[in-house]
Amino acid sequence: MSQSVSYAPAAATSSEARPVIPAQGNGRRLLQRLSALQQEVAEIVEEAVESGSHTNGPRVQSLEEAFRAYLQVADAIAVNSGSSALRAACELLHLPPGTEVIVPSYTFVMTAYAVNDAFAIDPQSGALAKGGLIPVFVDIDPQTYTIDPACVRAALSERTGAIIAVHMLGQMADMRPLLDLADERGLFVIEDAAQAHGATYSDPRTQHIYPAGSMGDCGCFSLSDVKNIGSMGGDAGLLTLTTRLGSRLPSLASEARAWRNTGRLGRQRYEHQTWGIRARMDEYSAAECLAQLRYLDSWVARRRQIAARYNAALAGTSFTPPYVAPGRGHAFFNYMVKAPTLEARHLLESRLRAASIQVADTYSVVPDQPLYRQGLLPCRLVASEQAREIARLLVAIPCYPELSEDEVARIEEVLSHCP
Ligand SMILES: Cc1ncc(COP(=O)(O)O)c(C=O)c1O
Repeated sequence: MSQSVSYAPAAATSSEARPVIPAQGNGRRLLQRLSALQQEVAEIVEEAVESGSHTNGPRVQSLEEAFRAYLQVADAIAVNSGSSALRAACELLHLPPGTEVIVPSYTFVMTAYAVNDAFAIDPQSGALAKGGLIPVFVDIDPQTYTIDPACVRAALSERTGAIIAVHMLGQMADMRPLLDLADERGLFVIEDAAQAHGATYSDPRTQHIYPAGSMGDCGCFSLSDVKNIGSMGGDAGLLTLTTRLGSRLPSLASEARAWRNTGRLGRQRYEHQTWGIRARMDEYSAAECLAQLRYLDSWVARRRQIAARYNAALAGTSFTPPYVAPGRGHAFFNYMVKAPTLEARHLLESRLRAASIQVADTYSVVPDQPLYRQGLLPCRLVASEQAREIARLLVAIPCYPELSEDEVARIEEVLSHCP
Protein backbone atom coordinates (compact mmCIF):
# COMPACT_ATOMS: atom_id res chain seq x y z
CA MET A 1 0.00 0.00 0.00
CA SER A 2 2.79 2.35 0.90
CA GLN A 3 4.43 4.58 -1.73
CA SER A 4 6.32 7.79 -1.39
CA VAL A 5 5.74 11.10 -3.08
CA SER A 6 7.19 14.48 -2.24
CA TYR A 7 4.89 17.49 -2.16
CA ALA A 8 7.34 19.82 -0.47
CA PRO A 9 8.08 23.17 -2.10
CA ALA A 10 11.64 24.09 -3.02
CA ALA A 11 13.64 25.53 -0.11
CA ALA A 12 13.88 29.32 -0.01
CA THR A 13 17.37 30.83 -0.05
CA SER A 14 18.39 32.80 3.02
CA SER A 15 18.29 36.17 1.18
CA GLU A 16 14.59 35.77 0.26
CA ALA A 17 11.81 37.07 2.53
CA ARG A 18 10.51 34.20 4.61
CA PRO A 19 7.39 32.77 2.99
CA VAL A 20 4.50 31.90 5.27
CA ILE A 21 4.28 28.27 6.40
CA PRO A 22 0.59 27.33 6.20
CA ALA A 23 -1.09 25.60 9.14
CA GLN A 24 -2.33 22.80 6.83
CA GLY A 25 -0.81 21.16 3.76
CA ASN A 26 -3.96 20.51 1.72
CA GLY A 27 -3.45 23.48 -0.62
CA ARG A 28 -0.06 22.16 -1.72
CA ARG A 29 -1.44 18.64 -2.06
CA LEU A 30 -4.07 19.96 -4.46
CA LEU A 31 -1.57 21.98 -6.50
CA GLN A 32 0.71 18.98 -6.93
CA ARG A 33 -2.13 16.76 -8.03
CA LEU A 34 -3.78 19.18 -10.44
CA SER A 35 -2.36 17.78 -13.67
CA ALA A 36 -3.20 14.19 -12.68
CA LEU A 37 -6.65 15.38 -11.66
CA GLN A 38 -7.38 17.06 -14.97
CA GLN A 39 -7.14 13.74 -16.78
CA GLU A 40 -9.23 11.97 -14.13
CA VAL A 41 -11.91 14.68 -14.14
CA ALA A 42 -12.18 14.52 -17.93
CA GLU A 43 -12.75 10.74 -17.72
CA ILE A 44 -15.35 11.10 -14.97
CA VAL A 45 -17.26 13.77 -16.87
CA GLU A 46 -17.28 11.56 -19.97
CA GLU A 47 -18.58 8.59 -18.00
CA ALA A 48 -21.12 10.75 -16.21
CA VAL A 49 -22.49 12.02 -19.50
CA GLU A 50 -22.96 8.43 -20.64
CA SER A 51 -24.42 7.08 -17.38
CA GLY A 52 -26.24 10.24 -16.30
CA SER A 53 -24.72 10.18 -12.80
CA HIS A 54 -21.74 11.61 -10.94
CA THR A 55 -22.40 9.76 -7.68
CA ASN A 56 -22.10 6.22 -6.35
CA GLY A 57 -20.31 5.13 -9.53
CA PRO A 58 -17.39 2.77 -10.16
CA ARG A 59 -14.86 4.96 -8.32
CA VAL A 60 -17.01 5.07 -5.21
CA GLN A 61 -17.19 1.28 -5.31
CA SER A 62 -13.42 1.00 -5.82
CA LEU A 63 -12.78 3.35 -2.91
CA GLU A 64 -15.09 1.32 -0.67
CA GLU A 65 -13.30 -1.88 -1.59
CA ALA A 66 -9.83 -0.32 -1.20
CA PHE A 67 -10.70 1.03 2.24
CA ARG A 68 -12.31 -2.25 3.28
CA ALA A 69 -9.16 -4.16 2.28
CA TYR A 70 -6.79 -1.59 3.84
CA LEU A 71 -8.61 -1.73 7.18
CA GLN A 72 -9.52 -5.43 6.95
CA VAL A 73 -13.13 -4.69 7.93
CA ALA A 74 -16.37 -6.37 6.87
CA ASP A 75 -17.69 -3.43 4.85
CA ALA A 76 -16.98 0.19 3.99
CA ILE A 77 -19.67 2.59 2.80
CA ALA A 78 -18.76 5.92 1.24
CA VAL A 79 -20.79 8.96 2.30
CA ASN A 80 -20.54 12.73 1.82
CA SER A 81 -18.84 13.67 5.12
CA GLY A 82 -17.52 12.41 8.43
CA SER A 83 -20.53 13.99 10.11
CA SER A 84 -22.84 11.91 7.91
CA ALA A 85 -20.87 8.77 8.77
CA LEU A 86 -21.38 9.49 12.49
CA ARG A 87 -25.07 10.19 12.07
CA ALA A 88 -25.46 7.03 9.97
CA ALA A 89 -23.74 4.98 12.69
CA CYS A 90 -26.04 6.37 15.39
CA GLU A 91 -29.18 5.72 13.33
CA LEU A 92 -28.26 2.32 11.93
CA LEU A 93 -27.69 0.84 15.38
CA HIS A 94 -31.44 1.32 16.02
CA LEU A 95 -31.00 2.80 19.47
CA PRO A 96 -34.31 3.30 21.27
CA PRO A 97 -35.56 6.79 22.26
CA GLY A 98 -33.88 8.08 25.40
CA THR A 99 -30.62 6.22 24.74
CA GLU A 100 -27.49 7.89 26.06
CA VAL A 101 -24.40 7.91 23.88
CA ILE A 102 -21.13 8.61 25.68
CA VAL A 103 -18.78 11.05 23.95
CA PRO A 104 -15.59 12.79 25.09
CA SER A 105 -15.84 16.45 26.10
CA TYR A 106 -12.77 17.20 23.99
CA THR A 107 -13.57 16.54 20.32
CA PHE A 108 -14.86 18.35 17.25
CA VAL A 109 -18.44 19.44 17.87
CA MET A 110 -19.88 17.15 15.15
CA THR A 111 -19.19 14.05 17.25
CA ALA A 112 -21.88 15.26 19.64
CA TYR A 113 -24.13 17.08 17.16
CA ALA A 114 -24.39 13.85 15.17
CA VAL A 115 -25.88 12.15 18.23
CA ASN A 116 -28.46 14.92 18.68
CA ASP A 117 -29.11 14.89 14.94
CA ALA A 118 -29.77 11.14 14.63
CA PHE A 119 -33.19 9.54 14.87
CA ALA A 120 -33.80 7.06 17.67
CA ILE A 121 -35.88 4.06 16.66
CA ASP A 122 -38.63 2.54 18.77
CA PRO A 123 -37.84 -1.18 19.08
CA GLN A 124 -41.52 -2.21 19.16
CA SER A 125 -43.11 -0.08 16.47
CA GLY A 126 -40.04 0.91 14.42
CA ALA A 127 -41.15 4.56 14.68
CA LEU A 128 -38.43 7.19 14.23
CA ALA A 129 -37.96 9.81 16.98
CA LYS A 130 -35.96 12.99 16.43
CA GLY A 131 -34.04 14.21 19.45
CA GLY A 132 -34.22 10.79 21.03
CA LEU A 133 -30.48 10.24 21.50
CA ILE A 134 -28.60 12.11 24.20
CA PRO A 135 -24.85 12.78 24.23
CA VAL A 136 -23.24 12.24 27.63
CA PHE A 137 -19.98 14.16 27.99
CA VAL A 138 -17.12 12.48 29.82
CA ASP A 139 -13.57 13.62 30.43
CA ILE A 140 -10.37 12.76 28.62
CA ASP A 141 -7.11 11.18 29.68
CA PRO A 142 -4.77 14.11 30.46
CA GLN A 143 -1.85 12.50 28.62
CA THR A 144 -3.35 11.16 25.39
CA TYR A 145 -6.29 13.64 25.21
CA THR A 146 -8.58 10.73 24.25
CA ILE A 147 -11.70 9.50 26.10
CA ASP A 148 -10.94 8.25 29.61
CA PRO A 149 -12.27 4.66 30.03
CA ALA A 150 -12.56 5.07 33.82
CA CYS A 151 -14.74 8.14 33.30
CA VAL A 152 -16.84 6.22 30.76
CA ARG A 153 -17.47 3.50 33.37
CA ALA A 154 -18.45 6.11 35.95
CA ALA A 155 -20.91 7.67 33.47
CA LEU A 156 -22.81 4.47 32.63
CA SER A 157 -26.53 4.47 33.30
CA GLU A 158 -29.44 2.16 32.51
CA ARG A 159 -29.96 4.20 29.36
CA THR A 160 -26.40 3.95 27.98
CA GLY A 161 -26.47 2.39 24.52
CA ALA A 162 -23.17 3.32 22.86
CA ILE A 163 -19.75 4.85 23.36
CA ILE A 164 -18.10 7.03 20.72
CA ALA A 165 -14.33 6.59 20.97
CA VAL A 166 -12.77 9.61 19.27
CA HIS A 167 -9.21 9.08 18.04
CA MET A 168 -8.34 12.66 18.86
CA LEU A 169 -5.54 14.47 16.98
CA GLY A 170 -4.57 11.19 15.30
CA GLN A 171 -4.02 8.91 18.29
CA MET A 172 -6.43 6.03 18.87
CA ALA A 173 -8.41 5.98 22.10
CA ASP A 174 -7.63 3.19 24.56
CA MET A 175 -9.87 0.68 22.80
CA ARG A 176 -9.34 -2.49 24.86
CA PRO A 177 -10.95 -1.28 28.13
CA LEU A 178 -13.74 0.35 26.11
CA LEU A 179 -14.46 -2.86 24.20
CA ASP A 180 -14.38 -4.90 27.42
CA LEU A 181 -16.83 -2.51 29.02
CA ALA A 182 -19.06 -2.62 25.94
CA ASP A 183 -19.05 -6.44 25.95
CA GLU A 184 -19.79 -6.55 29.66
CA ARG A 185 -22.73 -4.14 29.38
CA GLY A 186 -24.03 -4.92 25.88
CA LEU A 187 -23.08 -1.55 24.38
CA PHE A 188 -22.02 -0.53 20.89
CA VAL A 189 -18.66 1.13 20.25
CA ILE A 190 -18.50 3.67 17.43
CA GLU A 191 -15.02 4.83 16.46
CA ASP A 192 -14.77 8.46 15.42
CA ALA A 193 -11.71 8.05 13.20
CA ALA A 194 -12.20 11.41 11.45
CA GLN A 195 -8.66 12.43 12.43
CA ALA A 196 -6.99 9.03 12.49
CA HIS A 197 -6.37 7.60 9.01
CA GLY A 198 -3.22 5.51 9.40
CA ALA A 199 -3.30 5.34 13.24
CA THR A 200 -2.98 1.93 14.90
CA TYR A 201 -3.61 0.20 18.23
CA SER A 202 -1.81 -2.88 19.48
CA ASP A 203 -4.41 -4.89 21.40
CA PRO A 204 -2.89 -6.32 24.59
CA ARG A 205 -5.55 -9.07 24.51
CA THR A 206 -5.00 -10.42 20.99
CA GLN A 207 -1.46 -9.09 20.42
CA HIS A 208 -2.74 -7.93 17.05
CA ILE A 209 -2.23 -4.44 15.61
CA TYR A 210 -5.50 -2.87 14.43
CA PRO A 211 -5.93 0.20 12.24
CA ALA A 212 -8.30 2.96 13.36
CA GLY A 213 -11.85 2.24 12.25
CA SER A 214 -11.54 -1.54 12.49
CA MET A 215 -12.01 -2.32 16.21
CA GLY A 216 -15.43 -1.03 17.22
CA ASP A 217 -18.81 -1.96 15.70
CA CYS A 218 -18.59 0.96 13.27
CA GLY A 219 -15.87 3.39 12.25
CA CYS A 220 -16.48 6.91 10.95
CA PHE A 221 -13.91 8.65 8.76
CA SER A 222 -13.89 12.21 7.52
CA LEU A 223 -12.34 12.58 4.07
CA SER A 224 -12.54 16.36 3.98
CA ASP A 225 -9.71 18.21 2.27
CA VAL A 226 -7.61 18.92 5.39
CA LYS A 227 -7.46 15.31 6.60
CA ASN A 228 -4.50 12.89 6.30
CA ILE A 229 -6.18 11.89 3.06
CA GLY A 230 -9.18 13.73 1.72
CA SER A 231 -11.28 15.04 -1.12
CA MET A 232 -9.72 18.14 -2.61
CA GLY A 233 -13.21 19.32 -3.55
CA GLY A 234 -14.22 19.70 0.09
CA ASP A 235 -16.24 17.11 1.98
CA ALA A 236 -16.46 13.33 1.92
CA GLY A 237 -16.58 10.55 4.49
CA LEU A 238 -16.76 6.83 5.01
CA LEU A 239 -18.49 4.41 7.40
CA THR A 240 -16.98 1.05 8.26
CA LEU A 241 -18.86 -1.95 9.66
CA THR A 242 -17.00 -4.72 11.46
CA THR A 243 -17.67 -8.36 12.32
CA ARG A 244 -18.60 -7.30 15.87
CA LEU A 245 -22.04 -6.61 14.36
CA GLY A 246 -22.40 -10.37 13.74
CA SER A 247 -25.50 -11.58 11.91
CA ARG A 248 -26.83 -7.99 11.62
CA LEU A 249 -24.02 -7.11 9.21
CA PRO A 250 -25.64 -7.80 5.82
CA SER A 251 -28.89 -6.01 6.67
CA LEU A 252 -27.04 -3.05 8.21
CA ALA A 253 -24.78 -2.74 5.17
CA SER A 254 -27.74 -2.61 2.80
CA GLU A 255 -29.59 -0.25 5.13
CA ALA A 256 -26.52 2.05 5.21
CA ARG A 257 -26.38 2.11 1.40
CA ALA A 258 -30.10 2.90 1.27
CA TRP A 259 -29.71 5.51 4.05
CA ARG A 260 -27.19 7.55 2.05
CA ASN A 261 -29.46 7.43 -0.96
CA THR A 262 -32.90 8.64 0.22
CA GLY A 263 -33.92 5.29 1.67
CA ARG A 264 -34.03 3.43 -1.65
CA LEU A 265 -33.37 -0.27 -1.22
CA GLY A 266 -34.11 -1.28 -4.80
CA ARG A 267 -33.57 0.17 -8.25
CA GLN A 268 -36.89 2.01 -8.42
CA ARG A 269 -36.06 5.68 -8.31
CA TYR A 270 -39.06 6.87 -6.34
CA GLU A 271 -39.61 3.90 -4.05
CA HIS A 272 -38.23 4.66 -0.59
CA GLN A 273 -38.60 1.52 1.51
CA THR A 274 -36.60 2.80 4.43
CA TRP A 275 -35.40 6.02 6.05
CA GLY A 276 -32.64 7.92 4.31
CA ILE A 277 -31.06 11.25 3.55
CA ARG A 278 -28.93 12.62 0.70
CA ALA A 279 -25.39 11.64 1.66
CA ARG A 280 -23.82 10.10 -1.42
CA MET A 281 -20.17 10.48 -2.32
CA ASP A 282 -19.40 11.90 -5.75
CA GLU A 283 -17.03 10.25 -8.22
CA TYR A 284 -14.50 13.11 -8.07
CA SER A 285 -14.03 12.81 -4.32
CA ALA A 286 -13.80 9.03 -4.60
CA ALA A 287 -11.09 9.30 -7.29
CA GLU A 288 -9.13 11.76 -5.15
CA CYS A 289 -9.28 9.63 -2.01
CA LEU A 290 -8.52 6.44 -3.92
CA ALA A 291 -5.37 8.00 -5.39
CA GLN A 292 -4.25 9.22 -1.96
CA LEU A 293 -4.92 5.97 -0.07
CA ARG A 294 -1.86 4.49 -1.81
CA TYR A 295 0.32 7.11 -0.11
CA LEU A 296 -1.31 7.09 3.31
CA ASP A 297 1.28 4.93 5.08
CA SER A 298 4.26 6.84 3.71
CA TRP A 299 2.63 10.20 4.47
CA VAL A 300 1.91 9.11 8.04
CA ALA A 301 5.53 7.92 8.34
CA ARG A 302 6.67 11.39 7.28
CA ARG A 303 4.33 13.02 9.83
CA ARG A 304 5.92 10.80 12.52
CA GLN A 305 9.43 11.79 11.40
CA ILE A 306 8.58 15.48 11.63
CA ALA A 307 6.91 14.95 15.02
CA ALA A 308 10.07 13.23 16.31
CA ARG A 309 12.12 16.25 15.27
CA TYR A 310 9.77 18.66 17.05
CA ASN A 311 9.88 16.42 20.16
CA ALA A 312 13.68 16.65 20.14
CA ALA A 313 13.56 20.42 19.67
CA LEU A 314 11.27 20.76 22.71
CA ALA A 315 13.53 18.68 24.98
CA GLY A 316 14.65 20.76 27.97
CA THR A 317 11.84 23.33 27.53
CA SER A 318 8.79 23.66 29.77
CA PHE A 319 6.44 22.62 26.92
CA THR A 320 5.04 19.07 26.72
CA PRO A 321 5.17 17.30 23.35
CA PRO A 322 2.37 14.86 22.37
CA TYR A 323 2.42 11.71 24.49
CA VAL A 324 2.14 8.51 22.47
CA ALA A 325 0.79 5.69 24.63
CA PRO A 326 2.63 2.33 24.43
CA GLY A 327 1.34 0.19 21.57
CA ARG A 328 -0.28 3.06 19.73
CA GLY A 329 0.79 4.34 16.32
CA HIS A 330 0.01 8.07 16.24
CA ALA A 331 -1.02 9.39 12.83
CA PHE A 332 -0.27 13.03 13.79
CA PHE A 333 -3.25 14.59 12.05
CA ASN A 334 -2.33 17.33 14.51
CA TYR A 335 0.88 17.96 16.40
CA MET A 336 -0.11 19.90 19.50
CA VAL A 337 2.24 20.94 22.30
CA LYS A 338 1.00 21.70 25.78
CA ALA A 339 2.18 24.99 27.24
CA PRO A 340 2.88 25.15 30.99
CA THR A 341 0.70 28.27 31.36
CA LEU A 342 -1.64 30.41 29.29
CA GLU A 343 1.03 33.14 29.10
CA ALA A 344 3.55 30.62 27.73
CA ARG A 345 0.98 29.51 25.14
CA HIS A 346 0.50 33.08 23.95
CA LEU A 347 4.27 33.61 23.88
CA LEU A 348 4.86 30.57 21.64
CA GLU A 349 1.97 31.53 19.36
CA SER A 350 3.31 35.04 18.92
CA ARG A 351 6.82 33.75 18.20
CA LEU A 352 5.46 31.36 15.59
CA ARG A 353 3.52 34.17 13.93
CA ALA A 354 6.57 36.44 14.03
CA ALA A 355 8.47 33.72 12.18
CA SER A 356 5.70 33.59 9.50
CA ILE A 357 4.41 30.25 10.74
CA GLN A 358 0.60 30.03 10.76
CA VAL A 359 -0.99 28.92 14.00
CA ALA A 360 -4.24 26.96 13.56
CA ASP A 361 -7.15 27.35 15.97
CA THR A 362 -7.42 24.53 18.48
CA TYR A 363 -10.54 22.60 19.53
CA SER A 364 -12.96 23.88 22.14
CA VAL A 365 -14.68 21.94 24.89
CA VAL A 366 -17.93 20.70 23.37
CA PRO A 367 -20.24 20.91 26.44
CA ASP A 368 -19.10 24.55 26.77
CA GLN A 369 -20.55 25.40 23.37
CA PRO A 370 -23.61 27.69 23.59
CA LEU A 371 -26.37 25.24 22.66
CA TYR A 372 -25.26 22.78 25.32
CA ARG A 373 -24.30 25.38 27.91
CA GLN A 374 -27.66 27.12 27.63
CA GLY A 375 -29.60 23.85 27.74
CA LEU A 376 -30.95 24.28 24.19
CA LEU A 377 -29.77 20.84 23.04
CA PRO A 378 -30.27 17.74 25.20
CA CYS A 379 -27.11 16.41 26.82
CA ARG A 380 -25.77 15.17 30.17
CA LEU A 381 -22.43 16.50 31.40
CA VAL A 382 -20.44 14.13 33.56
CA ALA A 383 -16.97 15.71 33.46
CA SER A 384 -14.88 18.09 31.38
CA GLU A 385 -12.17 19.48 33.72
CA GLN A 386 -9.25 17.82 31.93
CA ALA A 387 -10.72 18.75 28.56
CA ARG A 388 -10.95 22.38 29.63
CA GLU A 389 -7.36 22.44 30.83
CA ILE A 390 -6.10 20.86 27.61
CA ALA A 391 -8.17 23.16 25.40
CA ARG A 392 -6.66 26.15 27.25
CA LEU A 393 -3.04 25.16 26.83
CA LEU A 394 -2.54 23.38 23.49
CA VAL A 395 -0.72 25.07 20.62
CA ALA A 396 -1.04 23.64 17.08
CA ILE A 397 2.24 23.32 15.19
CA PRO A 398 2.20 22.71 11.41
CA CYS A 399 3.01 19.01 10.86
CA TYR A 400 2.23 17.53 7.47
CA PRO A 401 4.15 15.69 4.75
CA GLU A 402 4.00 18.64 2.37
CA LEU A 403 6.42 20.66 4.58
CA SER A 404 9.91 21.14 3.15
CA GLU A 405 13.06 20.36 5.14
CA ASP A 406 13.73 24.08 5.33
CA GLU A 407 10.28 24.72 6.80
CA VAL A 408 10.64 21.93 9.36
CA ALA A 409 13.98 23.47 10.40
CA ARG A 410 12.35 26.91 10.76
CA ILE A 411 9.69 25.45 13.05
CA GLU A 412 12.29 23.45 15.03
CA GLU A 413 14.21 26.65 15.59
CA VAL A 414 11.20 28.38 17.19
CA LEU A 415 10.35 25.32 19.32
CA SER A 416 13.89 24.91 20.60
CA HIS A 417 13.82 28.48 21.97
CA CYS A 418 10.70 27.87 24.05
CA PRO A 419 11.23 28.81 27.69
C1 LIG B 1 -13.21 14.27 15.55
C2 LIG B 1 -14.07 14.66 14.37
N1 LIG B 1 -15.29 14.10 14.23
C3 LIG B 1 -16.09 14.39 13.19
C4 LIG B 1 -15.70 15.27 12.21
C5 LIG B 1 -16.65 15.61 11.11
O1 LIG B 1 -16.16 15.28 9.85
P1 LIG B 1 -16.59 16.15 8.57
O2 LIG B 1 -15.99 17.50 8.73
O3 LIG B 1 -16.03 15.40 7.41
O4 LIG B 1 -18.08 16.18 8.56
C6 LIG B 1 -14.43 15.87 12.29
C7 LIG B 1 -13.98 16.81 11.25
O5 LIG B 1 -12.95 17.41 11.34
C8 LIG B 1 -13.61 15.57 13.41
O6 LIG B 1 -12.40 16.14 13.55
